[in-house]
Amino acid sequence: MNLDQSKWGWWKDAVFYQIYPKSFRDTTGNGVGDLRGVIEGLDYLQQLGVDGIWLSPVCASPQVDNGYDISDYCSVDPMFGTMEDMEELIREAEKRGIALILDLVLNHSSDQHPWFREARKSRDNPYHDFYIWRDGDPHQRPNDVCSVFGGPAWTYVPELGQYYFHQFAPQQPDLNWENPKLRRALYDCILFWVNKGVKGFRLDVIDQIAKEPDRKITINGPQLHEFLRELSKEAFGDKSLVTVGEAWGADVDRARLYSAEDASELSMVFQFQHMGLDQEPWGPKWLYKPLYLPDLKRCYGQWQQGLHGRGWNSLFLNNHDLPRIVSRWGEPEKYRVESAKMLATMLYGMEGTPYIYQGEELGMTNIRLNIEEYVDLEIHNYYQEAVSNGTSHAEVMERIYARGRDNARTPMQWNGSDNGGFTTGKPWLPVNPNYTDINAADQVGDQDSVFSYYRQLIRLRKTYSIFREGCFTAVDEENENVFAYRRDTEWGHLLVVCNFTGKEIAFSIPWEFGTANRLIGNYKDMGTNLRPYEAYMLFYEERSKE
Ligand code: GLC
Repeated sequence: MNLDQSKWGWWKDAVFYQIYPKSFRDTTGNGVGDLRGVIEGLDYLQQLGVDGIWLSPVCASPQVDNGYDISDYCSVDPMFGTMEDMEELIREAEKRGIALILDLVLNHSSDQHPWFREARKSRDNPYHDFYIWRDGDPHQRPNDVCSVFGGPAWTYVPELGQYYFHQFAPQQPDLNWENPKLRRALYDCILFWVNKGVKGFRLDVIDQIAKEPDRKITINGPQLHEFLRELSKEAFGDKSLVTVGEAWGADVDRARLYSAEDASELSMVFQFQHMGLDQEPWGPKWLYKPLYLPDLKRCYGQWQQGLHGRGWNSLFLNNHDLPRIVSRWGEPEKYRVESAKMLATMLYGMEGTPYIYQGEELGMTNIRLNIEEYVDLEIHNYYQEAVSNGTSHAEVMERIYARGRDNARTPMQWNGSDNGGFTTGKPWLPVNPNYTDINAADQVGDQDSVFSYYRQLIRLRKTYSIFREGCFTAVDEENENVFAYRRDTEWGHLLVVCNFTGKEIAFSIPWEFGTANRLIGNYKDMGTNLRPYEAYMLFYEERSKE
């Protein structure tokens, strides 16, 4: 099925694939992925069956935070290729029915952006007010707000006698959304890309744009939704664009505003409540909570029911900031394939738009490196901070293995040749040595592979409208081993059953599903008990029972 991407709401039947371009495919041998690599990968993505690509940032950038520090919003960084490559990518993707969506980093720019270079020249420079400044002396910061990446959120500029505000690295100064000229300048950059033919955007940390640093408000500021409505009106035009905001601070009520059907703000948000953070997101010490299945079910229940008919969910378990889910909730040593398929089954039965993060469709796993081998600045800052607070090297490394962002950023494993076929040079971040066992070349033609399972799930979602329409109810919510839920409409019923353990578990399915069809499953057939990480979907229509 080819979706009509000119219509509002087309993304409700779509599946997106996130590409982290540095790690996708290198065609020049410099060890860094590039846009021509993305073009080469399009046939693979078409085989998988996805409808869109979310491309992490490729604009000009000093790469302090892997492109999330942009120095020119209307450009392509030469490291990734040229504007012609980008235009070709948009065209080639379109030929295959694949929409390209770009990552907009609107909360902050790079300190190398001409706006910031100007802004720091003098207090009366026309660009000064594009950023957030407070007077102060070098020994007294305006307040104690911390940066997400550790250390203070204020950096002093002696020539001005002022501090500027940055929620991330000092090289990522926050933009001042209260300034209408700044907002206009950003809309113009967005329109530049809309005119190039991109079909939508992912909006980086969008809930942090409306900050009030003096009141220590860095997320969900009072003007947030007002800014979003203006952004949508001025830059997203005819509303057929898909827009997904990254919102660590979103709850269900707020998500209803973000994704309201009147299209006044965005199509949907990435929220993180299901990821089980044990503290406020981004705090320097946060870790992930151990999985407790009844809590996860309650969380999904709230989101699925809370947005049904009143907004729209995104569905994801992985991205470039999160550890690989198969390494966290699955069992990669013993049941990698079974548990990767189980996690996908759990997610793909739900209502919302799924996002696959590159390599997830192969069941790629986390990596353990020496501290010097990591590239991510968050990992290094965290290491320094934790060690200087007295935590042992071994303990800090365990935390990095569990939560470090480079887990997800290792290069894509294309085949069993050197460096997994990602590059002929030296990769910018080591390739996971398990590429000889886990790679695309082995999986594409193999009916039993994780790749083939994802392909089948994507097809199912396009064949049965129950995936879009069914109302979600958890089944046996207190069960600590099995995640089961149903999706019901007047005309049909879907049951999803997932064993989250490596053990055999007895489970009784609701009687009315006794004669239902199995749409998909990660074992050849259904046994009496659920086998390790067994998962399946059952479906029947009302008519077939008459
Ligand atoms: C987002 C990005 C992350 C980046 C941060 C700052 O959360 O996903 O990779 O470091 O914003 O831009």
